[in-house]
Amino acid sequence: MRYSDDIIEEVRTRNDIVDVISGYVKLQRRGSSYFGLCPFHNEKSPSFSVSPGKQMYYCFGCGAGGNVYTFLMEYENYSFQEAVKALADRAGVRLPEIEYSREARALADRKALLLEINKQAARYFYAKLRAPEGAAAMKYLTGRGLDDDTIRKFGLGYSDRYNNDLYRYLKKQNYTDEVLKESGLFNIDEKRGIYDKFWNRVIFPIMDVNSRVIGFGGRVMGDGKPKYLNSPETKIFDKSRNLYGLHAARSSRRKNLIICEGYMDVISMHQAGFTNAVASLGTALTSQQAGLLKRYTDEVLIMYDSDDAGVRAALRAIPMLRAVGLATKVVSLKPHKDPDEFIRQEGKEAFEERLQKAENSFLFEIRILQAGYDMADPQGKSDFFHEVAARLLKFEDEIERNSYLETVARLYNVQADMLRKLVNRLALKGAGISGIIEPKKSRERKQEKEGGTEKAQKLMLTWMTSYPEILGGLEKYISPEDFTNPLYRQVAEMVEDQFRKGEVNPARIINHFEDSEQQKKVAALFHEQIALDTEAEKKKALLDVVCNMKESSIAGRLSGLDPTDLAGLQKLMEEKKKLEALRRNGLPEGVFQ
Ligand code: GTP
Ligand code: MN
Repeated sequence: MRYSDDIIEEVRTRNDIVDVISGYVKLQRRGSSYFGLCPFHNEKSPSFSVSPGKQMYYCFGCGAGGNVYTFLMEYENYSFQEAVKALADRAGVRLPEIEYSREARALADRKALLLEINKQAARYFYAKLRAPEGAAAMKYLTGRGLDDDTIRKFGLGYSDRYNNDLYRYLKKQNYTDEVLKESGLFNIDEKRGIYDKFWNRVIFPIMDVNSRVIGFGGRVMGDGKPKYLNSPETKIFDKSRNLYGLHAARSSRRKNLIICEGYMDVISMHQAGFTNAVASLGTALTSQQAGLLKRYTDEVLIMYDSDDAGVRAALRAIPMLRAVGLATKVVSLKPHKDPDEFIRQEGKEAFEERLQKAENSFLFEIRILQAGYDMADPQGKSDFFHEVAARLLKFEDEIERNSYLETVARLYNVQADMLRKLVNRLALKGAGISGIIEPKKSRERKQEKEGGTEKAQKLMLTWMTSYPEILGGLEKYISPEDFTNPLYRQVAEMVEDQFRKGEVNPARIINHFEDSEQQKKVAALFHEQIALDTEAEKKKALLDVVCNMKESSIAGRLSGLDPTDLAGLQKLMEEKKKLEALRRNGLPEGVFQ
């Protein structure tokens, strides 16, 4: 169940997008739009625009865009329902209760309760650190070089020596055993019942990107084992989708994000002014975390421990970061073990220097690769360069491939031409006998073609929403079935429906998509502007769009046609004739009226 369209639209129209976004981003008026620094990527000059007329926002730098709901979903990590609720609250609209499904409501309530328990626990640990029984823990933290501000900023705490203190504290506030068990803060065993999980440890609250406490890490003060205990995953704690320190790093003005291994590393870096540091949560980096990083930056510096495990972890992380389009570099901290130790021993200037010297991730991979070959042996050397050639071949962009090829040739003392021959030979071999490359190419070509078709449909939608007046005349040429992309077809149907009812309203259309990825795609359809002035220019451009789209639609349906379907074939042939006539004669007079 969801809220009715009318309610969703009412809440949207009662929250002016400029007002709402101004609460997060400093906006300045420029012409009919407002501009500011994009909160979804790091930038120095404003490319984030908010249009009061359209009630939509769009970033020319990173492509983020949508209506007021999309904004809150992206910025606050809200679900669609949560965004509706927050904006209803803000505008004083009372939402009907019944529209939540029973399970959805139960889950939302349960999550809210778990967040509340975590908040209480974090406060409890925080207070304990400052109480007399927390003296040793405080000494441990200051002994590790942390100052008051840092301890406060990261909400550090202490869990004391009595192993059911937190339990008793929370019981006094009337939480049931059942929900406390679900919080991950307690162990349960038959003999002892339910008791505190964290005992005599320094506590690191783990926050999501909106600074809500979702779990805890606890460190022994000294050499005990296990060194760190972490909360288990719960309904609110997903280790693969969160990053330690991101709530603070997201607003850092540094140009990239640093990913490291440990909580202490993040904290030390922030204290030293490197407020762009985050860490994974005691597990290897996941592709979801790579995606999360990409929402806040375009470049990541990997700063894993200087041991073999750290190198292996970096080699695993690089392709994941690459896959989401992040530029990646690797920082060496040798001879020190990790960022925390480096900063303590060498200071921040030396640390900054290491950041500047970060190694390109491809060259890092090649360097590690080389260590596995005996370069003094001709066979070893030849094997190494074959592997290098295979990796160079993976760059699709020729300029990029060539520039890496030349760099590698220089670094490893081989003639660039030799390496180039190797790459070319490998490419030919792949294309000819083994067929490894050929099928990939044809798949790519198909994708390209589909991409072209989608582009035409996208452009058509932009025309339909920018100049709704053309919709009446267009019906003769374009129908919803010409939109082969299901998402675009849905949007086209909505646009036509709104047109028939008298008003085309893109921001309202976005309401219908509850997934923020879909919202982004739909919003992207509407931000583009068609910068043509004269009637004749517009007519000519529109004719091209209509013809292109129609042609690819006919071709697409033709290739999917059952060869025995003669009626279908005939219909397509007629459409094709019509298209040819349209090409010859152009659009009729008055399409733009
Ligand atoms: P310090 O010794 O406090 O400086 O720790 P560190 O930040 O250098 O941590 P280390 O490199 O040893 O580990 C990195 C991360 O792995 C920690 O922040 C924890 O999240 C996790 N981790 C480390 N040790 C353990 C452990 O014994 N158990 C679990 N579950 N996680 C651990
Ligand atoms: Mn450390």
